[in-house]
Amino acid sequence: MNQFVFVGPGRIGTALTLVFEDAGYEVLGAYTRNVRGNPAVRYTSLTGRPVFDLAEEPRPLQEADAVFVTVPDKAVAAVAKGLADTGQLRPGQVVVHTAGALASSALDPVLCAGALRLSLHPLQTISDPAGAKELLRGAFCTLEGDSTAVERGQEWVQSWGGIAISIAPCDKPRYHAAAALASNGLVSLAAVAASLFPAADPLKALWPLLRGALGNLKSAGLPAALTGPVERGDLETIQLHLDAMRDFPTALRVYCALGEATVGLAFAKGSLTADERETLFRLFRSASADQPRTTKIDTDRGEEA
Ligand SMILES: NC(=O)c1ccc[n+]([C@@H]2O[C@H](COP(=O)([O-])OP(=O)(O)OC[C@H]3O[C@@H](n4cnc5c(N)ncnc54)[C@H](OP(=O)(O)O)[C@@H]3O)[C@@H](O)[C@H]2O)c1
Repeated sequence: MNQFVFVGPGRIGTALTLVFEDAGYEVLGAYTRNVRGNPAVRYTSLTGRPVFDLAEEPRPLQEADAVFVTVPDKAVAAVAKGLADTGQLRPGQVVVHTAGALASSALDPVLCAGALRLSLHPLQTISDPAGAKELLRGAFCTLEGDSTAVERGQEWVQSWGGIAISIAPCDKPRYHAAAALASNGLVSLAAVAASLFPAADPLKALWPLLRGALGNLKSAGLPAALTGPVERGDLETIQLHLDAMRDFPTALRVYCALGEATVGLAFAKGSLTADERETLFRLFRSASADQPRTTKIDTDRGEEA
């Protein structure tokens, strides 16, 4: 159980190749639709492993103990079906996908080849696979699938210093919604805050603040990490914020939605009375209801981008 191949040499395919090679496993290479595309070129340059065309070089795929299908979620089922229909799998192989929202049943077509199914989702964000080894060490990784495949997955995750946890298939969409909020949501929130910031280089100025908030979360936890005008019950300050965002409809709606969540958190922390909580809920709901709907992030002049 030491040789792997990847179908999809993108960010996760490249990152896992690097961590597995580092942990002593052998990655025979990756398969793609386009061996001259940017993901394929980056894969070879970062890992030193070859990229194959599925139609031209089936041998490493058949020899591998595990086949990682690291394509976008929407392509997982079709790729698994294609591998099974073209006779490229063999009994006992583990076929793995890394999609957070999909259960291992997305790989059902591989069962008719006698292969095992595993969903293995690293709870980490990889935008540049070159730095993935550090990010994946210590990261949680959820596993679900055929029992023998899950046992192998636990060994693999532990080999790179990850923390393997199991998950019920029916919980995967909700689990992944939480992951997307914590990761992609944070990036989007920074983009909205930057669009409102009235000085040059907003991300540079906001970064120590973002880092401070994350540090508070780590050291104090929830709800103790919360600070700010909602937590202090500063209604007048919040009204100033709402007035200042009149020409920034996206920022205002995000502010109000998060404001409602913040009110619940501040109440749980014991820093708001029940009356203050109701007043703040009403304020955020009415300010948000007045706003036009837009799909664009505001520019720094409050116009649509
Ligand atoms: N990036 C993350 O932070 C992260 C974290 C955890 C889990 N995941 C999961 O990992 C999987 C891959 O995500 P990613 O971020 O690595 O995506 P990605 O960087 O976009 O890479 C996807 C790869 O799949 C190839 N591909 C796309 N469509 C294909 C198809 N129909 N058939 C064969 N190959 C195809 C792409 O190459 P071509 O377009 O050149 O064919 C590319 O090499 C997803 O299920 C995602 O949910 C990602």
